Amino acid sequence: MSIPSVDSQLETGDGSRVKASEKRLVNCSQVDVNQLMPLKYHWAWEHYLNGCANHWMPTEVPMTKDIETWRSDKLTEDERLVIMRNLGFFSTAESLVGNNLVLAIFKHVTNAECRQYLLRQAFEEAVHSHTFLYVVESLGLNEGEIFNMYHEVPAITRKDEFEMRLTAEVLSPDFSTNTYEGLQAFLKNLIGYYIIMEGIFFYTGFVMVLSFHRRNLMTGIGEQFQYILRDETVHLNFGIDLINGIKAENPDLWTPEFQAEIIDLIKQAVELEIEYAGDCLPNGILGLNRDLFRDYVHYVADRRVERIGLPKQFDSKTNPFPWMSETMDLAKEKNFFETRVTEYQSSGALNWD
Ligand SMILES: [Fe+2]
Ligand SMILES: [Fe+2]
Repeated sequence: MSIPSVDSQLETGDGSRVKASEKRLVNCSQVDVNQLMPLKYHWAWEHYLNGCANHWMPTEVPMTKDIETWRSDKLTEDERLVIMRNLGFFSTAESLVGNNLVLAIFKHVTNAECRQYLLRQAFEEAVHSHTFLYVVESLGLNEGEIFNMYHEVPAITRKDEFEMRLTAEVLSPDFSTNTYEGLQAFLKNLIGYYIIMEGIFFYTGFVMVLSFHRRNLMTGIGEQFQYILRDETVHLNFGIDLINGIKAENPDLWTPEFQAEIIDLIKQAVELEIEYAGDCLPNGILGLNRDLFRDYVHYVADRRVERIGLPKQFDSKTNPFPWMSETMDLAKEKNFFETRVTEYQSSGALNWD
């Protein structure tokens, strides 16, 4: 394989300066992908700024109360199962998302402002993975058990395998977005991760863990999940803009057959998610049971498909967990800097010796 020379990598075609109007989200060979300005996709830059404004670290959230609760008899076995399953799912799902971003998505998005956002998102996924390591260490959980659930708990394995198939398609050595089928497969990957993984598969877990926070139990993990939910809301919004942007620039991709394929994927994902909820809640716990989650997953999936221009599939009407929107608004408004307990190392505190 020949490696292109530095000169050829820096060439912009006719040698003229980058024009914003020539920027494209994918398959752009006219302009230099290294040049951020002039901006064309202002939404991507806005999402980048929103991500930066939400900066947080899991270690800044005190875990003392959670440790006390976990060691006490305040939680039933069913409640412990809910928490363990969700820690198990998220601990590796965050890595799957991060890997797909860096290995499958980044290479094929040929726009500098979107890549700037993807770099920020990749860091946030690292922070989310860090959260699960921190929680496992704080509560003294068995790390092998948590981090292997994606091999050992079938309801988690099925969700992850569903996603990993989409990553494998883009990582195949002959994959290219220069073909019609390739670009459709890439769009399918984006929908599979932004809409399904981050937009559907994460939400059952958010409800389950945040329901403890509402009852003033496991509030450290609850606070961390609020920050993760806030980050994931931006990831989802960026993903929707990227998907809709690629559709607008390549309208021939969005055929009735392709839409049917996407709807079929969403329906498969919804079934996997309902199974996952049932697996976490074999007997139900206070205010939560499998039937409510069926309604919730339908409600969430309908909201997601509408945002990428597809019709609702489940005829859902109301959110069975209306408090979730309140929690999301609170997380948005919360001034993290007022509650943080540790300070960042400032330049004055660094030791250079
Ligand atoms: Fe994440
Ligand atoms: Fe994410």
